[in-house]
Amino acid sequence: MSAAPISDFRSDTVTKPTPAMRRAMAEAEVGDDVYGEDPTIARLEARTAELLGFPAALFVPTGSMGNQIALRVHARPGTEVIVEARSHVFHYEMGAMAALSGLLPRPVFGPGGRMPEAEAEAWVRPESVYYLPRTSLVCLENTHNFAGGTVLPRAAVEEVLALARRKGLAVHVDGARLWNAAAALRVSEASLVAGVDSVMVCFSKGLRAPVGSAVAGSEAFVAEARRARKLFGGGMRQAGVLAAAALVALEDERGRLAEDHARLARLARELAGVRGVSVDPESFPTNILIVDLDARVWGSANDALGKLRTRGILAGAAGPASVRLVTHADVGDADVDRCVAAFRESAGMS
Ligand SMILES: Cc1ncc(COP(=O)(O)O)c(C=O)c1O
Repeated sequence: MSAAPISDFRSDTVTKPTPAMRRAMAEAEVGDDVYGEDPTIARLEARTAELLGFPAALFVPTGSMGNQIALRVHARPGTEVIVEARSHVFHYEMGAMAALSGLLPRPVFGPGGRMPEAEAEAWVRPESVYYLPRTSLVCLENTHNFAGGTVLPRAAVEEVLALARRKGLAVHVDGARLWNAAAALRVSEASLVAGVDSVMVCFSKGLRAPVGSAVAGSEAFVAEARRARKLFGGGMRQAGVLAAAALVALEDERGRLAEDHARLARLARELAGVRGVSVDPESFPTNILIVDLDARVWGSANDALGKLRTRGILAGAAGPASVRLVTHADVGDADVDRCVAAFRESAGMS
């Protein structure tokens, strides 16, 4: 008996490498990257820097390490980092900025994951008061994961850049899914991050590479980032096998992300008609959808996940009464149909 099909909407990180990636990995030219001798990593770093419009980039094992390296380089211990309250760097990185770099997060809530510029400004500590900590940095997230894959348009970035210039702060962008933001806005990735001090991007999410992220910035930033990567245990040896897959990801997969977004938009529209589900499809412009559930129909989010699981749909909880669904290359139109049917059946509609 063959196993029932599973449609995995938990995350775009579940994507498996493509045959082209596996071939590139098998054939990659490699060397010891701690000695600066891996030509495939060098090519990936150069291509990433070019796409992002920065002089240099550094390959790192994970997005979390990339963010933490950037924070470490920009900010001195004991200083404050202004972050959006639901940002990955604050919410999901295990207090790393405090544990690894002695930094104090200053979370401010922004609707849709945007950085509320006026509120952020109110939290920049005055240099004139010697007994307050200094503010060193503002972090942005584009797209914003927890807010539902929301996009920070260039104008929102500009506002924060203007604040940072007025106050002498650095700006780091967590661009784990910057590729999705660029695809949704139909602009280049570089246009979204021009003028910031550093950006982190992931190859291992919607772009399907098995491992890897990068941080980009000035030559001086990357030189320091290389030291911080070693400090954090992220100096890798023949990791060109990983960079090879990431290079394929950059060339083959960015153009495909609009398909994930279109599937998500359809999923959102169809789920909006299901009993006990509330969702505004307009609020989810990329590949992450969060639906709120009426407890009288669904019970808790965990109850809902159980009902969906028995119908072959894997999703994640986004709160006590909300469920998160993510589209990616390994879920197609038939998976979206199956997901909608599973919601309808679970809600007693068919
Ligand atoms: C917005 C954002 N930033 C950073 C990360 C961290 O990436 P990694 O899982 O590679 O550490 C994630 C992971 O999902 C993310 O969604």
